[in-house]
Amino acid sequence: MKEEICKVVAEILGLSDSEITILIETPPDSKMGDMAIPCFGFANLLHKNPALIATEIKKGLDQKKNQLGLDEVLSVNGYCNIFVNRMLFTEKVLKQVAKENLGFEKIGNNKTVCMDYSSPNIAKNFHVGHLRTTVIGNALYKIHEKLGYKVVRINHLGDWGTQFGKLIVAYKKWSSKEEVEKKGIQELLDIYVKFNNEREEHPELMDEARDWFVKMEHGDEEALSIWEWFKDISIVEFERVYDMLGISFDSYTGESFYREKVPALVELLKEKKLLIESQGANVIDLSDYNIPPCMITKKDGSSIYHSRDIAAVLYRKEKYNFDKCLYVTGLEQSLHFKQVFKAIELMGYDFYKELVHVPYGLVSLDGEKLSTRTGNIIYAEDILKEAIKRAEDLIEEKNPALDNKEEVAKQVGIGAVIFHDLFNQRIKNINFSWKEVLSFDGTTGPYVQYTYARAKSVLRKYEKAVSSAAESYEPSVVARYLINLCSDFNKFYQECPILKEKNEKKKKKNYNW
Ligand code: ARG
Repeated sequence: MKEEICKVVAEILGLSDSEITILIETPPDSKMGDMAIPCFGFANLLHKNPALIATEIKKGLDQKKNQLGLDEVLSVNGYCNIFVNRMLFTEKVLKQVAKENLGFEKIGNNKTVCMDYSSPNIAKNFHVGHLRTTVIGNALYKIHEKLGYKVVRINHLGDWGTQFGKLIVAYKKWSSKEEVEKKGIQELLDIYVKFNNEREEHPELMDEARDWFVKMEHGDEEALSIWEWFKDISIVEFERVYDMLGISFDSYTGESFYREKVPALVELLKEKKLLIESQGANVIDLSDYNIPPCMITKKDGSSIYHSRDIAAVLYRKEKYNFDKCLYVTGLEQSLHFKQVFKAIELMGYDFYKELVHVPYGLVSLDGEKLSTRTGNIIYAEDILKEAIKRAEDLIEEKNPALDNKEEVAKQVGIGAVIFHDLFNQRIKNINFSWKEVLSFDGTTGPYVQYTYARAKSVLRKYEKAVSSAAESYEPSVVARYLINLCSDFNKFYQECPILKEKNEKKKKKNYNW
């Protein structure tokens, strides 16, 4: 506003904007105006007395009062005092804020961040561990997007590896097309667990599994078609969970995509003299850095988790030219990423600095690690469904006449699960407890939603009060509304002593939903 005012004043006096800008000041008392132009400095320049100059400015500004958003302009003893129209000013600021993304700083500046999260493993269930990476990753995506980053959401599906060799063996030995079609991913999981139990006694099973995986790596048609089929079944299940969570991805390029890039990677590493042979396998020696060797290809020549990840870094850099690439996975993968990032550094790529592992703590069930190998797992879908059911029960109990019960139950139930995950510091281990995750009291998602809904209803009531006051020509409607609002506000103010001494202990309240 100041700038616009200066421009107009400069025109009135026939001077330059900057000559006005340096003189304009804020009066010591706001009763004298929001801005003041002392006109003594112009007197010599214009050969006029200051009071006359002030009056000239006043006249000129008066004509543009609306355009400039001013309430009043006064000429007082050689000063021109300017009063800003508070209403217009507020409106202007709010509009500006809204336009500028509600005041969020756009620190991202359109820089690209690749985010690798969720990334569940094909033919295994989507369990609570994957729920954590999914929810934390998605929250980081939203946070970065708000700040003006361009985010590429990548689901690095675990769709390649020896486990598929095991699955093919297990399928051929203990299952059938009909069973898999009937029971879906659960059948795949069951036979996978069976394989792991049996292999203790029948070590030859592992050789068979390895053979099948090598066949897959060499493009064997039968192996690939079984694998493809298992993959389709799995994705259908994953998408059900993503739909419930309202989450989507920009890329589903998983591990299988990179297997074909590993031979070229091997060549590149050889050229850079980084590859050594160790018991028939190809590895990068990292002993100088106190890190175990990073395996690139196994004895049988097949690719491995590490090499597929290194190939993925190179591919992503080329395709997205990221400024940062985040990996949201469990803490137990820290060594893996240390090896991968070190490999990129040794290859001479400076962008190893842009690779960030964002680890999170373990989820355990009553102190026990969750593992697909033993079947000790909690499925994400079950948690979400159970949460919705519990929210439904609560609605039935407290507000049975609610219109859109189903939708509300979904929002509250799923919101509770997501918030529980986000409220815990990501690095901390979580002991999974149904009671805690689905509790609707205290520091929970439903508490946040409840407060939001209340705030919204204040706005709705306000709008209604004003229109019904107009309909009945009855200002008392607004006056009464204001008294109610004051009473609500004072209740809030009492419970939440925001302005009291900082060290005064705040009473901890347990908010009941
Ligand atoms: N599929 C892996 C798992 O379930 C996570 C993959 C993480 N991303 C990556 N680029 N390695 O543990």
